Amino acid sequence: MDPKDVKSAVVVGAGVMGHSIAQVLAQAGIEVGLVDLTKEALERAINLIKSNLDILAEFNRLPNDEIPAILERIHPSTDLVSAAQGVDFALEVVVEVADVKKKVFSQLDEICSEDIVLASNTSGLDIFSIAEVKNPERLVISHWFAPPHIIPLVEVVPGPKTSPDVVAFTAGLMKRLGKKPVVMKEFVRSFIVNRIQNQISLAVLEMLEKGWATPQEIDMAVKNSLGIRLPIVGVVQTYDFTGLDLVLDIMKSYGVSHPLFEEKVKQGHLGAKTSKGLYDYGGRSEEEILKKRDRLYLRMLDYLEHISAFESV
Ligand SMILES: NC(=O)c1ccc[n+]([C@@H]2O[C@H](COP(=O)([O-])OP(=O)(O)OC[C@H]3O[C@@H](n4cnc5c(N)ncnc54)[C@H](O)[C@@H]3O)[C@@H](O)[C@H]2O)c1
Repeated sequence: MDPKDVKSAVVVGAGVMGHSIAQVLAQAGIEVGLVDLTKEALERAINLIKSNLDILAEFNRLPNDEIPAILERIHPSTDLVSAAQGVDFALEVVVEVADVKKKVFSQLDEICSEDIVLASNTSGLDIFSIAEVKNPERLVISHWFAPPHIIPLVEVVPGPKTSPDVVAFTAGLMKRLGKKPVVMKEFVRSFIVNRIQNQISLAVLEMLEKGWATPQEIDMAVKNSLGIRLPIVGVVQTYDFTGLDLVLDIMKSYGVSHPLFEEKVKQGHLGAKTSKGLYDYGGRSEEEILKKRDRLYLRMLDYLEHISAFESV
């Protein structure tokens, strides 16, 4: 199926993530069955969706007069069977408990037609070993970020049997929804962002436990450094600005190394200063590259100061 032909979907689980994902689908003109266990959970979900839509309208991301039609496209239900019947796409967003997800996928496998994609929003479970479905080539992970109606990224992760068409369809559908999909080559626990975030968490927890810095000091340090640079150079391109030769020396001082960095340094590709590193700067001079970066840093700094981002929330 072409992503543009998706007219209906079911979202199973209407909690922190599910309600907002259903909203994003409905905003793109798709009829959505939103399923949870109780009427109370669904009522809470609809109230949250209304509030989310108000905020989006407040920030001119959505015309106010579109809100009633979006809400009409969301069909809350406690009956998975009727909600999932005949849909063009199914997304599981229930609790991160293997047995619960396994049961939901067995139900979706029974109810949904054999050719529609079954996706999971798991944060890192190996859904491909957990779910038992007749056509495992249609099983895929689409991992959204909270709050889904605001954060653009969706990680699309295939399992060992997921077909390339299913991956392409899922990424295409995310684009249609206005999201920025990043497709991983294969399933690895925690995917890209949580893998990075987990390492940050370990470092933070160690610092707090040992009392090396207070929570406020750690956040101050991060907001006044990485907070400004990350949106501009990410976590990989930043090496090009440090200089890959220095990065390699630092690694060696810790008693480690990395073949990619060794190779680049051997070739004389040291980053921005040689116009080639992990990125290729197309022969631009170091001054040109740094000016472009610094304009962006300064705009970011101006804006963060303007909104008082360095104060605590
Ligand atoms: N919270 C986050 O920031 C976040 C981010 C990315 C991914 N995720 C993943 O998304 C999934 C959902 O997380 P959440 O934070 O929305 O959880 P949540 O607890 O807020 O919501 C889960 C919902 O699923 C419902 N549910 C449980 N069993 C069900 C069933 N059999 N049928 C229908 N509904 C059922 C629960 O009643 C609950 O409302 C998890 O896999 C989680 O790891 C969460």
